[in-house]
Amino acid sequence: MARPSTARTLFTVLRAGNVRARLRATRDGQAAVRLNVGAAALRTGVLDALAGGPAATSDLARRLGAPAEDLLAAFLRVLVSVGLVGEDGGRWSLSAGGRALVDDDLVRATHEAFAGFHTGLYRELGPLLAGGPRRRDVVEEGGVIARVSAAFEPFVDDVLRETVAAVAPRRVLDVGCGAGLQLATVLEAAPGAEGVGVDADADAAVLAGRTLADRGLAGRARVLRGDVRDLAGGTEDPFDVVLLANVVYYVPVGERVLLLRSLAELLTPGGVLLVVTSVATPQLTSRHFDLLLRAQEGAMELPDTGVLVGQLVEAGLEPAAPRRIAPGIPLVAVSAVRPVAPLQGPAASS
Ligand SMILES: C[S@@+](CC[C@H](N)C(=O)[O-])C[C@H]1O[C@@H](n2cnc3c(N)ncnc32)[C@H](O)[C@@H]1O
Repeated sequence: MARPSTARTLFTVLRAGNVRARLRATRDGQAAVRLNVGAAALRTGVLDALAGGPAATSDLARRLGAPAEDLLAAFLRVLVSVGLVGEDGGRWSLSAGGRALVDDDLVRATHEAFAGFHTGLYRELGPLLAGGPRRRDVVEEGGVIARVSAAFEPFVDDVLRETVAAVAPRRVLDVGCGAGLQLATVLEAAPGAEGVGVDADADAAVLAGRTLADRGLAGRARVLRGDVRDLAGGTEDPFDVVLLANVVYYVPVGERVLLLRSLAELLTPGGVLLVVTSVATPQLTSRHFDLLLRAQEGAMELPDTGVLVGQLVEAGLEPAAPRRIAPGIPLVAVSAVRPVAPLQGPAASS
C-alpha cells in the first residue's frame, strides 16, 4: 500500500491539470527525443563508425574527428539508454537496434525524414503562416523521399503483379520512379518486357539506376532524368502500362488533367494507367502529408479520391473503382484503361 505522503503526492499529481494530456505530452516528448537521438547518431556517423566493431571512446573520437570526448561519451550513454548501443568494459558496440538503423535503409531514411523535414515543417510553421517563402523539400530531399516511399512497396507489389497478369505488357513506363523498386518488380513479373523510368530528381534517378542494375534488369530498363511532361509528344514508343505511384500529389490540381492526358497519350489503345496515391482522409498521416505538400513551392496537395477519378475520365481514360490497398493507410490504387477508340477530351498540348 502507498505510504500516506506518497498517496498525497499521487493525489496532487492526479488533480493537477489534465493528467492524461500531461502523460501524453511526456510520452510524445520521449518519442521525439528517441527519434532525434537516432537521427543524430546517423548524422554524426557514430553508428556507422561502430558498424565495423566495438571501440573505446577515444578511438571513436579520433575516427569521427570529434575532440569533445566528454560530450561524445555522454551521447554514447544516451545511445545505450535508447538501446542503440551497448557498453562493455569501456568499449561501445552496436546493439541489434543500432544494427537495424545502420543496415535497414528504410529505418535509416525514416529517421532522416521524420527528424528532418517532416517535423521541420512544424518548427518553421510560423513564418509560413505569415506568408513567408514556401518549402523546397520535394526538390531538396528527393533522395530521402524516394527511400521512405519504399515503405509502400509491399502494398503496391500485389497490384503491380495483378496489372502485369491482366495486360501482359511489352513496354512499361514508371513515372516518378523514385528508387526504381516498382519498375523492378514489374519487369521481374513481366520477363519479356522493357521498361523506362523517369524521375525529375537526380538522386532518385541514380538510385533507380542502381536498383535496376542490382536486380539484374539494367539490360531491359532505362532511367531518364527529367519531367515526365517533357516525354509527351517525344520520340518514345507507346507503353502498355504506365505507372504513376506516389507522384500525382506533386502536380498542382489545375494541371492534373493535362498530366493524366499526356500519360494517356503515351499509352497503347487498351493500355493501362495505374495510379497509386495517398489520398485526403481525416487520418493524421493524411492530414500531415497534405499540409507538408501545401507548404511546398508549386501548389501541391493530396488528391480527393472522387476528384481524381473525375480527372481520369476528363483525361479520356476509363477508370475502374478505386481500391484502398493497405490496411489503416490512406493509400489508393486506381487503374484506368485507354479506350481503343480515339481519345476524347482535351489534348495534352491544349
Ligand atoms: C514519393 S516519390 C515516389 C517514388 C516511387 N514512384 C514510389 O512510389 O516509390 C515521388 C517521385 O516523383 C518524382 N516526380 C515528381 N514530379 C515529377 C515529374 N513531374 N516528373 C518526373 N518525376 C517527378 C520525384 O522526384 C520523386 O522521386
